[in-house]
Amino acid sequence: MRAVWYDRQGPANEVVVQGELPTPEPGLGEVRVQLEASGVNPSDTYRRRGAVPAEYPRVIPNSDGAGMVDKVGPDVSAKWVGKRVWLYNGQRNGRWMGTAAEYISLNADLVTPLPDHVSFAEGATLGIPCMTAHGCVFVAGPVQGRIVLVTGGAGAVGHYAVQLAAWAGAMVIATVSSDEKAQRAKAGGAAYTINYRTEDVGARVRDITGGEGVDHVVDVDFGGNLAAVLASVRDSGSIAYYASNGALNPEMPLRTLMAKNLAVHGFVLPTSRHAQRKRAQTDIARWIASPGRILSVDGTFPLYETAAAHLSVEQGGKTGTVVVECAR
Ligand SMILES: NC(=O)c1ccc[n+]([C@@H]2O[C@H](COP(=O)([O-])OP(=O)(O)OC[C@H]3O[C@@H](n4cnc5c(N)ncnc54)[C@H](OP(=O)(O)O)[C@@H]3O)[C@@H](O)[C@H]2O)c1
Repeated sequence: MRAVWYDRQGPANEVVVQGELPTPEPGLGEVRVQLEASGVNPSDTYRRRGAVPAEYPRVIPNSDGAGMVDKVGPDVSAKWVGKRVWLYNGQRNGRWMGTAAEYISLNADLVTPLPDHVSFAEGATLGIPCMTAHGCVFVAGPVQGRIVLVTGGAGAVGHYAVQLAAWAGAMVIATVSSDEKAQRAKAGGAAYTINYRTEDVGARVRDITGGEGVDHVVDVDFGGNLAAVLASVRDSGSIAYYASNGALNPEMPLRTLMAKNLAVHGFVLPTSRHAQRKRAQTDIARWIASPGRILSVDGTFPLYETAAAHLSVEQGGKTGTVVVECAR
């Protein structure tokens, strides 16, 4: 099969190579997916760059993807063959072979049917971004009738968090950094937006909520946003964070956390609980069954330009997910 890989970590245009590798056979409990699209997430670039120690001598990058099941291994129903699917945790959890290739074999548990009205490129945006959004929106319980603050509500994860929380019946407040991003968050279902660069987030949230604060926060930058989030969340509320690029070791105001009886949940998709991930797959399948959801593809690159796709993610400023087209 045609594939892209790296044998050492480093800058994309120095370490990423392309060529032919043996097509993987599906093992026990596995399906093989003929890939059409591969999603590039920031964590795929961190791994390639060397931000985490190398786990394997060779890596086909990228966790997420979408395509058609073309073969199943022992103990897997033949009904999967021919099904359009999206997948997550490709190059993760013991697998060196990710989705920047024509085929991937992985546990049938990690694939979910993709409806015909969702393109493969859109399907490749669902893995890390939407699964993470789901994990963070629902980790503290149902959000129906609750007020949820999503920081970075126009980001790949943040926009799915806005949409899933609104779908589940929450009133959503999103922080953004521009009018354009405010429009995007509102199109996803945010009732209110706050420009976190120019406005006092805590004051605006208290104003919107009649002084009460929000029940739950989905946060893109726990360390960087800590003061604003603590000023926004109500007593006995909760915070789920999935990144902390503004400060990885923030000074923690423990008395405030304690006095407000807050629950703080960190979230990382690959190691999150299996039951939580199964529920996310089920909910996302229900959610995308209705047309009109916003699944954002920032741009597409041919397979052999995967290095350029990684560079594009590293440059920042993407809207949604950068996608590699595996058959192109
Ligand atoms: N834990 C996990 O499992 C997991 C899963 C997915 C992603 N992540 C991490 O989450 C981060 C975002 O990923 P992504 O793919 O969603 O990136 P993205 O598409 O670039 O979105 C990030 C968004 O957050 C906004 N933002 C940045 N700092 C902010 C702040 N302090 N307050 C409010 N908004 C802020 C950005 O907009 P402005 O710059 O315009 O404000 C942007 O809209 C990355 O660091 C990624 O590695 C973690």
